[in-house]
Amino acid sequence: MRVLVTGGAGYIGSHTIVELVAKGHDVCIVDTFRNSSPEVLNRLEEITGVRPLLHKVDVRDRAGMKTVMESYKPEAVIHFAGLKAVGESAEIPLEYYDVNVQGTVVLLETMQAVGCKTVVFSSSATVYGAPQYLPYDEAHPCAPSNVYGQTKHMAEQILTDWQLANPDSSVVLLRYFNPVGAHSSGRMGEDPDGPPNNLMPFVAQVAVGRREKLAVFGDDYDTPDGTGVRDYIHVTDLARAHISALDYGVKQAGTDVFNIGTGTGYSVLDMIKAFSKASGREIAYEVAPRRVGDLASYYANPAKAGTVLGWSAERGIEDICTSTWKWQSDNPRGYGA
Ligand code: NAD
Ligand code: WQD
Repeated sequence: MRVLVTGGAGYIGSHTIVELVAKGHDVCIVDTFRNSSPEVLNRLEEITGVRPLLHKVDVRDRAGMKTVMESYKPEAVIHFAGLKAVGESAEIPLEYYDVNVQGTVVLLETMQAVGCKTVVFSSSATVYGAPQYLPYDEAHPCAPSNVYGQTKHMAEQILTDWQLANPDSSVVLLRYFNPVGAHSSGRMGEDPDGPPNNLMPFVAQVAVGRREKLAVFGDDYDTPDGTGVRDYIHVTDLARAHISALDYGVKQAGTDVFNIGTGTGYSVLDMIKAFSKASGREIAYEVAPRRVGDLASYYANPAKAGTVLGWSAERGIEDICTSTWKWQSDNPRGYGA
């Protein structure tokens, strides 16, 4: 199948392309490299033996997207392109709405113009907001508590409404929990620009000596060890979920939504310990105040993805830490090395 992958040079997109090529799909990337490096294309070619087609086009650029659609004629789209930093989304909210919401509108308009009917969308567990119960299932009410989460929720609604107006189309919304880990080859992984906002890239940079110590944001939460608990999902498992979602989407019309997590929560201290074991390095840390907006604990009920998509996570935190360490130690400066 011809699959257009917006944001395909990014962290999750690139790992998904490896799985798509392995399944025999033809892939075309749309990416501006706003938060990624063209070096990813070389790594993808190394791993898969195929260099994906690339269009350096902004998903908001209607004329550019129309040209891409008309030349590639995708049979399905996986829409990763977007901005994802919660803190930044409060500082530049209009940019977040423009890229994440308007970008989705333009994508759908240009898909429709060429009769492309299937789209898999990168949503986030962030759409749920503060848990009314745990684990979150897909029926949990959505009440995002930050701008980033609002943009994802709005994009979900737009996709759902588009599907209703186009009854033979198919929308699969994937709500990711905490994507982490790297490709087993050590050739691809997460490469944040500047100091990482997220736990695992920060821990990896401390281990490799790029940063002195980790700040643990709060140790007085109502959790077993007082630190925040999350559902860390290996990026290769997440990538596999997109293949299952695509297979499902092309088979039937409608909109469906799935949690993509493991169902198990680990604390910040659990992750530090696991990373220390995998890397053989001590992870220096100090306890700091809570980060504004953080929740104590959340994790997925991924049962629906198991029953309907036939997908479940296969990798645990050991694999997550081993693969992250291989990527970080082989590429201490990420793709910029
Ligand atoms: P990423 O930043 O590595 O990848 C996003 C890609 O989109 C980048 O390559 C970037 O250059 C590109 N991009 C950004 N704006 C663009 C635009 N206007 N036009 C074209 N390309 C553009 O992020 P990721 O971690 O791979 O996340 C992929 C998707 O998954 C995002 O939509 C994100 O919101 C969502 N998501 C991520 C996480 C996470 O923790 N990583 C969790 C839940 C959901
Ligand atoms: C995990 C835990 C922190 C950094 C974010 C987004 C979410 C989704 C995934 C996109 C928490 C603690 C972190 C550090 C720490 N992204 N921590 N020191 O906040 O669960 O989720 O990424 O959709 O929308 O909000 O992930 O990795 O930042 O934090 O102690 O330097 O690690 O307090 O308990 P989070 P995270």
